[in-house]
Amino acid sequence: MAVKITETILRDAHQSLIATRMTTEQMLPIIDKMDKVGYHSVECWGGATFDASLRFLKEDPWERLRKLRAGFKNTKLQMLFRGQNILGYNHYSDDVVEYFVQKSIANGIDIIRIFDCFNDLRNLQTAVKAANKEKGHAQIALSYTLGDAYTLDYWKETARQIEEMGADSLCIKDMAGLLVPYEADRLVKALKEGTKLPIQLHTHYTSGVASMTYLKAVEAGCDIIDTAMSPFSMGTSQPATEVMVETFKGTEYDTGLDQTLLAEIADYFRPMQEEALKSGLLNPKVMGVNIKTLLYQVPGGMLSNLVSQLKEAHAEDKYYQVLEEIPRVRKDFGEPPLVTPSSQIVGTQAVLNVLQGERYKMITKESKKVLGGEFGQTIKPFNPEVQKKAIGDTEPITCRPADKIAPQLAKFEEEIKEWKQQDEDVLSYALFPQVAIEFFKHRQAQQTKVDVNAADTKNQAYPV
Ligand code: CO
Repeated sequence: MAVKITETILRDAHQSLIATRMTTEQMLPIIDKMDKVGYHSVECWGGATFDASLRFLKEDPWERLRKLRAGFKNTKLQMLFRGQNILGYNHYSDDVVEYFVQKSIANGIDIIRIFDCFNDLRNLQTAVKAANKEKGHAQIALSYTLGDAYTLDYWKETARQIEEMGADSLCIKDMAGLLVPYEADRLVKALKEGTKLPIQLHTHYTSGVASMTYLKAVEAGCDIIDTAMSPFSMGTSQPATEVMVETFKGTEYDTGLDQTLLAEIADYFRPMQEEALKSGLLNPKVMGVNIKTLLYQVPGGMLSNLVSQLKEAHAEDKYYQVLEEIPRVRKDFGEPPLVTPSSQIVGTQAVLNVLQGERYKMITKESKKVLGGEFGQTIKPFNPEVQKKAIGDTEPITCRPADKIAPQLAKFEEEIKEWKQQDEDVLSYALFPQVAIEFFKHRQAQQTKVDVNAADTKNQAYPV
């Protein structure tokens, strides 16, 4: 069967290579062409794009979504959603999660890819139900990782539960590029035994094996793969769209996509890549193969975070010590996958453990939350000694964490009354309160400027 393609250049590719800095203005001129390709979907929203739009680009992410929706008339739009964390870094109440899903779909999203950093399926329930209710496509993503507990049987059983939960498809989310080709073959076959749902594979080129992994996965029955147009492909991004299309041409997996049209789209993005290289936004280092990801099993983004944390502390010489500490902290924390937000939490704690010269002398607020069960359940139990150090005699949470969170939406509505210009503003505020207020102020200032200009023109045109 023809393999389907999800294009990531408008989300993961620029998030992974140029710190999520592609603007809506840069996207709009090419979407008419992209709409003609026949992609299965275009991933263009969610993940870090929401935060980056508000914080760095001073753009309303909702406005971006509406503009993309208006341009993509035939193509499904896809977003990435962190379960009960939505697009933020904490757990939110169910009413906020439900409202976010509702508004995402109302503004143009077709497919919501929902994942949890612990693969605790309870953290996905609310978002999946909300997507079902709004008639959106709910895709549940397994955060792929390695470790004794992560057997093929575990993945197969999880796939079975995912189907039972009401997901419309399943994604293997290999954020660190750890899935090697022959393992992909085994994994896809195991998942196919556990579920009848379509299977999509998402990986990163970081360790250099990604396109071979796609080949083996597709041969094993994987239905959809995530790729990025060549100017923003490979390195810490996805394999190139054109390369995968060419790979399957003339076979039973032929995508049917038009190389000439793809080449025109690549031509549009290439100057943007060259500009990013010139300005330093795109570091040539992230374009290469980083085999350390296989050794340390740490996602590419986490490595660069680590380097900057150590730089700030003038302790760059401790880099390898920290890399070795990360798997130990991960073990103490029940061996979770390392993906936002667990990657940041484990990484920061590992840095502290090394810099303080004593493990868990200082424990971050987030580490305490993890060890108190506030992020849910990990595959293995927490190290009881470390847990005791972190939360003392407090009883850890064992239920679904959001069951402990009272509805928050009404409170957020009250807090932003004076700034609100659209329903969706409350959601921007719920996720990033300070950043959103800054943005609302900026937006208002821009509008005042426009009003004043308009008034001036009027006065000149009609002198009294
Ligand atoms: Co990714």
